[in-house]
Amino acid sequence: MSSAVPQAKSQQTVTMIDNATGKKFEFPVMEGTVGPRVVDIRKFYAETGMFTYDPGFTSTAACESAVTYIDGDKGVLLHRGYSIKELAEKSDFLEVCYLLLHGELPNKPQKTEFVTTITRHTMVHEQILSFFSGFRRDSHPMAVMVGTVGALAAFYHDSLDIDDPKQRELAAHRMIAKVPTIAALAYKYSIGQPFMHPRNDLNFSENFLYMTFGIPSEPYKVNPVLARAMDRIFILHADHEQNASTSTVRLAGSSRANPFACISSGIASLWGRAHGGANEAVLDMLHQIGDKSRIPEFIARSKDKNDTFRLMGFGHRVYKNYDPRAEIMRKTCKEVLDELGIKDDPLLDIAVELEKIALQDPYFIEKKLYPNVDFYSGIILKAMGFPTSMFTVLFAVARTVGWVSQWKEMIEEPTQRIGRPRQLYTGTPERPFLPMDKRK
Ligand code: SDX
Repeated sequence: MSSAVPQAKSQQTVTMIDNATGKKFEFPVMEGTVGPRVVDIRKFYAETGMFTYDPGFTSTAACESAVTYIDGDKGVLLHRGYSIKELAEKSDFLEVCYLLLHGELPNKPQKTEFVTTITRHTMVHEQILSFFSGFRRDSHPMAVMVGTVGALAAFYHDSLDIDDPKQRELAAHRMIAKVPTIAALAYKYSIGQPFMHPRNDLNFSENFLYMTFGIPSEPYKVNPVLARAMDRIFILHADHEQNASTSTVRLAGSSRANPFACISSGIASLWGRAHGGANEAVLDMLHQIGDKSRIPEFIARSKDKNDTFRLMGFGHRVYKNYDPRAEIMRKTCKEVLDELGIKDDPLLDIAVELEKIALQDPYFIEKKLYPNVDFYSGIILKAMGFPTSMFTVLFAVARTVGWVSQWKEMIEEPTQRIGRPRQLYTGTPERPFLPMDKRK
């Protein structure tokens, strides 16, 4: 099944007049399946001698893609046309991985083969285990992830040739399967517990919980409610159009870098507090607020331009409505806390009250700031026993399939070229070299 991007067609055009010269220019308009049309400006510089300017890419489509679609105004998220709500309720993470990679939900034989393949790739080369002793025990696990995933290129030489479809597929399977193992190893190393090898009799999420929380001295009993919640959390984080880390992976991949290096660059970008690091920052913020009575003080600070404080887990570049993932996350939060018998979680109480107050605040209403995927995830993960430093690692475990799917789509794109943006130069014009005795 090809998942190659269907080429968008261009029928209409837009006209631009350069008022400085009176010159008129026409550019094709391209239309996708759904969503905004795009102006094809690939010849803009050649024809006008000017660049376009869009530093945060707020109005720029960097590529064609058929993997994921978001309607930010309606709060819609589709993976290959299927809504995140239906996938979270009716599918499972490895099935969503197959869908993202191949463009269709797997039939029974395809699913069995895919699950078996991924299961059989969960072990890492034994020498990779010795990497960990090179890190400090108190290293942030994201630092370990960036280094170790990038170093997979030093071991899996038979999946580095990006022009060989078989090697691309093998690299994709290895990363989907091994990133969770590396994440669990990083956690075990940080707490000084023995490493747990993967178990092929468990499914993807059960195995991840086993490798993370199991110990060799006694049998580990998987809690099916927690395993299902973990699997759903992975589904909710799997892919999300051209977000910062996915765009990082695409740009790294456009230079023909090997797949492991590209995914490692995605992990590095995801680490930022404005992106995947927000789930860890939400917990820190809830602890900082400490009590519901202090919520108004922090809401005021988040609106103060002179204060760098922002409500973590709120706002989104694309969603100007409720992030559909946040709603599912909130329901999952209740399921997990009920299962664990946690009646009143003070952090959850603060989060629910914070959300209620913020959503009634004119500032948040006017700027269309709603809770995003990170707002509730940390509360669930903390209840499940993960330290806050592991929250973004779990995001990376899930997002690996999105990164490899988008990377694969880019490499298979017939017109793929190296990404090389230009700039608006505002520095000093050319000047003669200044000898030392003339410098101030
Ligand atoms: C993820 O892109 C993706 O798809 C990402 C992601 C994915 O799945 O890959 O969805 C995952 O990264 C979710 C977002 C996690 N980050 C946070 O929760 C951090 C807090 N949120 C903000 O930093 C911010 O909302 C961003 C980074 C998410 C979005 O930033 P934008 O699009 O650049 O928006 P902006 O910063 O220009 O904000 C617009 C206005 C500003 O006010 P003005 O300058 O117009 O007066 O809204 C304000 C901002 O000050 N604002 C906030 C706010 N977020 C935006 N004010 C208070 N608290 C906030 N959280």
